[in-house]
Amino acid sequence: MESYDFVVIGSGIAGLTFALKAAAHGRVAVITKRAPADSNTAWAQGGVACVTSTEDSFELHVRDTLVAGAGLCDEGAVRTIVSEGPARIQELLALGVQFDEREVPGGDGHTELDLGREGGHSKRRILHAHDTTGREIEMSLLRAIAATPDIVLLDNHMAVDLITAAKLGFATENRVIGVYVLNEETGEVVTIESPRVVLATGGCGKVYLYTTNPNVATGDGVAMAWRAGAVIANMEFIQFHPTCLFHPEARSFLITEALRGEGGVLRDARGRSFMEKYHPLASLAPRDIVARAIDAEMKRTGEKCVYLDVTDKPADFLKARFPNIYENCLRYGIDLTRQPIPVVPAAHYQCGGVRTDIDGATHLRGLYAVGEVASTGLHGANRLASNSLLEGLVLAHRACGRALRDEPLKANHVDARSRYQLPEWQSGQVQDVDELVVIYHNWDEIRRLMWDYVGIVRTDKRLQRAAARLRNLQAEIQEFYWNFKVTTDLLELRNLATVAALIVDSALSRRESRGLHYTLDYPETDDRFPPRPTELRRF
Ligand code: SIN
Repeated sequence: MESYDFVVIGSGIAGLTFALKAAAHGRVAVITKRAPADSNTAWAQGGVACVTSTEDSFELHVRDTLVAGAGLCDEGAVRTIVSEGPARIQELLALGVQFDEREVPGGDGHTELDLGREGGHSKRRILHAHDTTGREIEMSLLRAIAATPDIVLLDNHMAVDLITAAKLGFATENRVIGVYVLNEETGEVVTIESPRVVLATGGCGKVYLYTTNPNVATGDGVAMAWRAGAVIANMEFIQFHPTCLFHPEARSFLITEALRGEGGVLRDARGRSFMEKYHPLASLAPRDIVARAIDAEMKRTGEKCVYLDVTDKPADFLKARFPNIYENCLRYGIDLTRQPIPVVPAAHYQCGGVRTDIDGATHLRGLYAVGEVASTGLHGANRLASNSLLEGLVLAHRACGRALRDEPLKANHVDARSRYQLPEWQSGQVQDVDELVVIYHNWDEIRRLMWDYVGIVRTDKRLQRAAARLRNLQAEIQEFYWNFKVTTDLLELRNLATVAALIVDSALSRRESRGLHYTLDYPETDDRFPPRPTELRRF
């Protein structure tokens, strides 16, 4: 058994920020299932929404966030996250993160942050590093982690399950006391004890057939928290990004909303701009509206995609501001300076997750959740673009303070280790998985059924079909889990099935359309009562 003062599961912006802060107080293990930079953060193009300009205000950012959230945001959480943002941005700048700057007009060569604009924002407030902001932040954080001796980064390690006092039959309050972790190279499961376990595992885009997310986004944190007994909230609110590149060889390549912020226009196959029919902000309307409009246009015209047109912008500007997208499109034979980009909506962001307070504390003592895996109340029924990196930074900072207050370090250092002797992982008589085809088949089936039955437009009948099919799949997968040696593929499949079922159950329980949840059976928003988050409890 290994012991750490803090265990962080996940290596995106929230997990790495937490680890850096926690390392000032104790030993930290960061567990990440592939390479350290394999995270949603590293793929983020748009940037970080934060009030840094004198033309902007916290009040406006709060208002934009609440409007997008369609009545379900926790206003206190929104205010805290928005107002603590600038201090966290200063910390990123101190770490060496290079956001784009521009010359102040008439300012004698002085520069200021170059702020981008995205859908739903009333002001320019997106800090960005060209169109690879996430990569810039991720690499700066990883450099800082590598220079911090008290952090052990365990890559190619996947968390199997949280260890709780209840699961081990301890006669104490139920709490998290560690985690079982699969070392993917040796195939062994190691036991890690810790009184402070932080989920920073990101989202679950891979539960859908089409997604802008990397392969690691399999909902591991939500699934583990659910099995451990934490409360899961608002999982029906899956954000579909309106513009993912449509090309048979290009999977999961996002076309940032910042292109529309710079004047990009959505057109149908005949070149007609169509968003004016759906919203006064046209192509810059909130994401849920744009994604639904594209879905409706595709269904109406029978076309496989729509087009994002930026050809009226100067080519030099486009190449300098969006070099990554320009190069990537060119690789698929699309010169965005001369021709419209074919795009389709794709699953992008999990707005719900493990219920936490504004300090990242979950309902289970010893367990914290930060970043996309958490449901803090910031996003409500629909996330405002680029609010997520901001939330990850603020929550990581607050959760570190909270974990130290909940479990004061010195006392626990002695206490926890003598209190909990954790048993080793029992693998019994299990064999190697005999038929990998079962895993791949089930994986595909879940992603396709979620896309077809639990997508942008839902109905009760489709949701019920999905629920019935998922129950069978979960039983089959559970049998596999008990009878065969655990592998990353099997663990991810088990987590995907759990998260898919949580999305369906949450969607079935909301009998109205609100934000990202749109159902033909209840097409109106029910404003008779104050809106409530959907909360699912296992115990
Ligand atoms: C984008 O660049 O369009 C994505 C930004 C976000 O999802 O916050």
